[in-house]
Amino acid sequence: MDQDRANAFLFKVFGDVATSAAVACLSIGDRTGLFGAMRGAGYLTPAQLAARAGLHTRYVEEWLAAMAAGGYVEYDPDAGTFRLPDEHAVVLADTESTRFLGGLLQMAPAVVRQADRVAASFVEGGGVHFSEFGEDFVEGMERANAPNFANVLTRRWIPLSDTARRHLDAGRRVLDVGCGSGRSSVAIAAAWPRATVVAVEPDARSLARARDLAVEHAVADRIEFFAIGAEDLVFEGEFGVALSVDVVHDMADPRRALEAVHRALTPDGVYLMAEPNCSSDLRHNLHPIGTFFYSISVLHCLTQSLAVDGAGLGAGWGREAAADLARAAGFRDVRELDLGNPITALLECLA
Ligand SMILES: C[S@@+](CC[C@H](N)C(=O)[O-])C[C@H]1O[C@@H](n2cnc3c(N)ncnc32)[C@H](O)[C@@H]1O
Repeated sequence: MDQDRANAFLFKVFGDVATSAAVACLSIGDRTGLFGAMRGAGYLTPAQLAARAGLHTRYVEEWLAAMAAGGYVEYDPDAGTFRLPDEHAVVLADTESTRFLGGLLQMAPAVVRQADRVAASFVEGGGVHFSEFGEDFVEGMERANAPNFANVLTRRWIPLSDTARRHLDAGRRVLDVGCGSGRSSVAIAAAWPRATVVAVEPDARSLARARDLAVEHAVADRIEFFAIGAEDLVFEGEFGVALSVDVVHDMADPRRALEAVHRALTPDGVYLMAEPNCSSDLRHNLHPIGTFFYSISVLHCLTQSLAVDGAGLGAGWGREAAADLARAAGFRDVRELDLGNPITALLECLA
């Protein structure tokens, strides 16, 4: 055995465990408003920060030490003060920014919390149902995606498809598949005032939030919600555009669902499928983004599909497999649109 290699690996695993504990502390910073309280405030003592955030000083002091050691905040040892630089605040505290990761920090514990039950499923089979991931998962996903849906989806992603843009400009009907908490449906309705949206979502908690959001944004009269999975769609030839964002790999029966989406489109319609930006070949995913997708998949995407005896595609099923499935479901022309985004890939599937 190579002793140096074993020691180097020991330090790697130790570092990973340290980082995962730090992520839980980052999540506490998001949940308790500490990052918000530090944003733009300059250097603060633990007591000053605790007062600003309305929290107990001793906890804040220890938390700041963890954050400083992890490189998340800056520390001035002479003054005993800490600061969140603007470049970090945009990631941790600016909920409107497309760089904001607070939503992910809210989702992470909701996912990790299920690790014991997922481990049991390795032995017993089955899995953890989507609804059991709870409010933090749904709310965290909404916060994670909201800036992208508000700024990028309708301005950059959808317009990459000439067909989708043309149909939306013409006020054709839109099908939002697996709308989650409704941010995508609301963004489309807001960006194309002539468009009407049908949004389907099987999770009751997400759908309730989506209905509220449509009212908040004054577009409820142009969005119709259905509490169903896409495989149960009964529409035939009604939509110019269909869209799903991070949904197909979670589906129990993705082939039947995509066939139903295909049937719901007009013959000149287009389906835009956004999925994790992975290769279907594991060899090309051996990097941190791959680690993220496969790990989240074990703890959430895969298990929630297997919980309902589903296909269990997993988040890392990849662009090539996604294109193959779309073709098998009846789409005649499938190509990838260049988002230039390392996390998300977008397939344009012509009916
Ligand atoms: C990762 S979330 C993405 C939600 C939303 N599109 C977003 O990006 O915020 C996956 C969503 O797909 C929904 N879903 C799972 N199976 C589905 C199916 N068969 N048909 C439609 N939606 C489904 C889940 O309930 C969940 O809301």
